[in-house]
Amino acid sequence: MEDIFSITLRPAVRSDIGKTGQKGIRDLFNTVQRHERRAGRAPLAPPAYADWARRMDRQIPAGPHEALVALRGNAVVGFCLARHDAKTRVTKLDKLFVHPDVQGQGIGRLLMSQVTITAQSRGQIAMTLRAESGENRASGFYQQLGYSVESRKPGRPTIDTLRRQI
Ligand SMILES: CC(C)(COP(=O)(O)OP(=O)(O)OC[C@H]1O[C@@H](n2cnc3c(N)ncnc32)[C@H](O)[C@@H]1OP(=O)(O)O)[C@@H](O)C(=O)NCCC(=O)NCCS
Repeated sequence: MEDIFSITLRPAVRSDIGKTGQKGIRDLFNTVQRHERRAGRAPLAPPAYADWARRMDRQIPAGPHEALVALRGNAVVGFCLARHDAKTRVTKLDKLFVHPDVQGQGIGRLLMSQVTITAQSRGQIAMTLRAESGENRASGFYQQLGYSVESRKPGRPTIDTLRRQI
């Protein structure tokens, strides 16, 4: 689909979830979660693997779902999951995570650009998502990508709702 250096993006399939120790999405999620905990950030929402697998099965070109993996060799190093709502014409990003060893190398941006390209090609008007607010938190990443904070829900953690017209 798209290639930067040794990273390949392609639609995720059910078998990418993998078993423990298989370098699939499950292992990637556990690694990211450990890293987030060590960095003192809020834990990511628990994975709903059965739901993710259903969405991967249903990601037909005209359907609302899009799931992508970023691969280095045969290891999954990035994952994102989005829903292109044709009624509202707004795409909601549900999940995005990148392996800590390769964070800061443009993989998150690459996954986001691919989802945005799909959204634009389907006539969507905006992208939206929720992310932890604050310094060194995911909200800053999305703001770097041109998203604006629409609302902020204070708490532990404080959560931003972000949006970008496309
Ligand atoms: C957030 C995350 C997906 C970013 O992916 P990434 O591959 O590390 O990001 P990129 O390298 O593509 O960064 C793109 C730009 O955003 C910047 N950026 C990355 N994280 C940032 C942050 N927390 N705050 C501000 N800017 C950030 C980068 O410096 C880069 O800017 P540049 O292009 O000017 O150099 C990744 O850090 C991650 O998986 N975090 C843990 C899980 C998580 O929080 N997911 C989001 C849930 S909503």
